[in-house]
Amino acid sequence: MNTSENIESRRSIKHYDPEHVMPEADLQELLRLTKLAPSSFNMQNYRILVVRNPELRQQLREVAWDQAQVTDASVLFILCADLKAHQADPSDYWGHAPQAVQDILGPMIKPFYDGKDQLIRDEAMRSSALAGMTLMLAARDLGYDSCPMVGFDPDAVSKLINLPDGYALSFMLPVGKKAEEAWDRGARLADDKVVSYDRF
Ligand SMILES: Cc1cc2nc3c(=O)[nH]c(=O)nc-3n(C[C@H](O)[C@H](O)[C@H](O)COP(=O)(O)O)c2cc1C
Repeated sequence: MNTSENIESRRSIKHYDPEHVMPEADLQELLRLTKLAPSSFNMQNYRILVVRNPELRQQLREVAWDQAQVTDASVLFILCADLKAHQADPSDYWGHAPQAVQDILGPMIKPFYDGKDQLIRDEAMRSSALAGMTLMLAARDLGYDSCPMVGFDPDAVSKLINLPDGYALSFMLPVGKKAEEAWDRGARLADDKVVSYDRF
């Protein structure tokens, strides 16, 4: 499947084969590819929760508008935003770079973010969204479908998964084997509503 086919064949799928078990090798390959997503300063300021426990999945479904994909997809990923990544040792992100690059980028990170809560959250949401999109496309490539989701009670989900301080929920992402086709794809807005050139 080439990239265009991959993008065109991705749909938000709501019904999955509940019997399908994702092989560990597929899960690890999805995670490997997802981690290649870009992030500002390479901070990788997202965290991926892999939820497979059936009882927990049922509890999550109950606070996610009873959406079947939460329990029936092979794996439920929950993409979280890491709001403290800028405080870590920059060598976590740049340790393999030439020293000259480390000397420039390392000291830039903390001052760029410190005290700027909105920027920190925006950045972590950007990173988790890019990671999630990467995961969706990787899933297609491995023969899986997916459905990004924010239809859930965030407080209840945070409690169920023990979301630590310093993290925020980004979105849920069930991935599995499609059991029913998606509805016809929702029309996309005309270019003149979505695209501007040079200036608004
Ligand atoms: C952030 C986000 C949240 C979404 N939440 C849900 C959801 O809770 N349940 C659901 O069935 N679909 C959800 N969707 C899927 C959208 O409805 C879907 O992407 C849109 O209708 C376009 O369809 P397509 O993805 O098949 O092209 C969500 C999509 C995004 C990006």
